[in-house]
Amino acid sequence: MITILGIESSCDDTSAAVLRDGTLLSNVTASQQVHEAYGGVVPELASRAHQQHIVPVVDAALKRAAVKRDELSAIAVTLGPGLMGSLLVGVSFAKGLALALGVPLIEVNHLQGHVLAHFVRTADDTRPTPTYPFLCLLVSGGNSQIIRVDAPTQMTILGQTIDDAAGEALDKCAKIMGLGYPGGPIIDRLAREGDPHAFQFAKPSISGLNYSFSGLKTSFLYFLRDAMQSDPQFIEHHQADLAASYERTVVEILMQKLDRAVRETGIRQVALSGGVSANTALRQAFTARSERKGWQVFIPPFAYTTDNAAMIAQAGYYKALAKDFCPLDKPAFARTSL
Ligand code: KG4
Repeated sequence: MITILGIESSCDDTSAAVLRDGTLLSNVTASQQVHEAYGGVVPELASRAHQQHIVPVVDAALKRAAVKRDELSAIAVTLGPGLMGSLLVGVSFAKGLALALGVPLIEVNHLQGHVLAHFVRTADDTRPTPTYPFLCLLVSGGNSQIIRVDAPTQMTILGQTIDDAAGEALDKCAKIMGLGYPGGPIIDRLAREGDPHAFQFAKPSISGLNYSFSGLKTSFLYFLRDAMQSDPQFIEHHQADLAASYERTVVEILMQKLDRAVRETGIRQVALSGGVSANTALRQAFTARSERKGWQVFIPPFAYTTDNAAMIAQAGYYKALAKDFCPLDKPAFARTSL
């Protein structure tokens, strides 16, 4: 029997999960409201909040799973990439616990965790999981990548953003319009009431399967500057149409490269991961591809799309099977690819 405790603290969510023989027993996440007032995550405040949350969150995950500490086989933790101060809280805690219990530590790459979220399942979960190889569109506040997945630990980035991430592009749109943070869910809600073809914004032309979103943001800013010269209330008058048109453009940019990746690889199993996968228009675009082009699409439940420890425990489980453990002196890392 393999029982893994997963710990995730790479950004602003403190999360712990318990997984036994590939089945999720608990997943507890404490989010941090402290950043709302600043319109973005403040790293120092994030690490302080992680310190307050880590003990009660791990405790709650063990209690909910009805697992005692001495039943744990290994501790899996996000070693990176992420905010260094945030990572250090989870990594130091995991190392201390592994040392105290005499169990191995497992290093998990946060991005691999997001991809493997598709395999997280509770005992009564019957949703289908992808088979290898499959493609994964990973879209979050910090990443936009098309990944080819050949095995749980064998992943290749086929394309990625050269500047802003898709979630960041949506967050900035909301910020420019003075709508609050995080902007993705606000734009999503507003866009449902607007006309997605009311306005046209610039789309990038980037080679290969890479993405760029910073030009869209600039095009949006210039458009608003010109429009507000004749109508200072332009944003208030056209909020929903602006949100819908901007969101449509983000989704079109994402799907255009994903279509190309499917054509070039011939792989038609396509999974969606990361916080932006909650987006209604993006989900609709996926469903439409499955109906019109015969893709087999996978969208995980919301709890496993944003940062969570269930996906970290899942990734840790594959490594535990392969006895791929991590030395206790390996440091956390802020940046990396897969
Ligand atoms: O994966 P995630 O929770 O972690 C980070 O990368 O921080 O992704 C957060 C991102 C944010 O940019 C947020 O605005 C976006 O996901 N997001 C959404 C929606 N829900 C969250 N974007 C569009 N529509 C949504 N419904």
